Amino acid sequence: MTIFNPDTLREIAQQYGTPLWVYDAPTIRQKIELLRDFDVIRYAQKASSNIHILRLMREAGVMVDAVSAGEIERSLAAGYSNQDNPESIVFTADVIDREALALVIQHNIPVNIGSLDMLHRIAEVDSHHPVWLRVNPGFGHGHSDKTNTGGPNSKHGISLEDLPEVVALLQQYGLDLIGIHMHIGSGSDFAHLSLACQAMVEIVKLANVDIRAISTGGGLPAPYLKNDVELDTHSFFRLWDEARKDIENHLGHAITLEVEPGRFLVANAGVLVAEIHCLKSTAQHRFVLVDAGFNDLLRPSMYGSYHKIEVLHKAATQQSVNSMHGKREYAVAGPLCESGDVFTQDENGVICHQALDNPRVGDMLVFKDAGGYGAAMSSNYNSRPLAPEVMIDEGQYRLIRKRQTIRDLLSLEMI
Ligand code: LLP
Repeated sequence: MTIFNPDTLREIAQQYGTPLWVYDAPTIRQKIELLRDFDVIRYAQKASSNIHILRLMREAGVMVDAVSAGEIERSLAAGYSNQDNPESIVFTADVIDREALALVIQHNIPVNIGSLDMLHRIAEVDSHHPVWLRVNPGFGHGHSDKTNTGGPNSKHGISLEDLPEVVALLQQYGLDLIGIHMHIGSGSDFAHLSLACQAMVEIVKLANVDIRAISTGGGLPAPYLKNDVELDTHSFFRLWDEARKDIENHLGHAITLEVEPGRFLVANAGVLVAEIHCLKSTAQHRFVLVDAGFNDLLRPSMYGSYHKIEVLHKAATQQSVNSMHGKREYAVAGPLCESGDVFTQDENGVICHQALDNPRVGDMLVFKDAGGYGAAMSSNYNSRPLAPEVMIDEGQYRLIRKRQTIRDLLSLEMI
């Protein structure tokens, strides 16, 4: 169970019920430390946006990225303030709705612009607003095509062809350009992320503008499989630092280097705990059915993502006795009325298996490395309430989000 003590997980599940998210705060802090070489670490909160996690980030000196009015409100609720530090919150998007626009103006939040239309929108309200330009370098890479955010198939960012026009307009309006930003995709790898450094140097030269900062974007991988290697963050920094120096030589002054990870900081720090309600077999598969579904953890259904699953036996002694029989292969699925509600599947929806140690009804399953894009992507499908979140820190655990109730869901419709 690596970072989580099985007894503690059992106790938390007993107290708050399942399904349940549990996070380990020290693990998040360790990940932050690995990126301290960068001038600014900006957390892409879409990965996990509970305000207690945002508060942890703020207390560790990490800045925050927001992509919606809701994420701005979360940042403010967690104590981020652009009055205190004008760079605290940055808003990144390709479109900006009225609510988000009002908030970025009110709180003087720099806007990372991903489209020409968005640039007009901002400038019409505040022609001197601080902005970043998010540029699509013409290539991208992610763990899935759905998370590749560069190249000709991506809706994100300003294309290289549009860049001269965008820069001209920006200058015409008098917008305050902070820097150039690039995010090639999520769950990328060292090789692809390195390509972005050189692209950044070329883009800054092409844009022919003065800037104060560059951002690498996110995309830093987190290990999910046993053989996945941890990103060498220091080598990653060195590559970007070289690109930064090239740009500084070109501009004739120093600039700031930002990194914008989501997954890297939180993925390995969180688990989803679910209770086993049923074991059944078909001609093809031995199924374990639990009380969490893709309404809770969407990644396997959406991308075929792998999350290692371990059995948390009801009684601490059960495991050692039964593990003598060895593990067997199981397909693990949820309670939803949809056949795709399977946690063990590949990206084509083909059902796979994981070796589980004697799972029984009443035991629990722990879905590992679910701290990034886990709770954040949950929904109310099948009218299932959002699961509670618990954080463990300094040997103590505390509830950081209550379980949603069915009454909460219905109340929106009582009109
Ligand atoms: N910056 C921008 C502009 C982004 O769009 C994203 C992610 C990030 C940073 C953070 O990327 P990260 O460091 O977490 O890779 N739901 C998918 C991931 C989608 C990511 C979307 N944008 C998943 O579960 O894998």
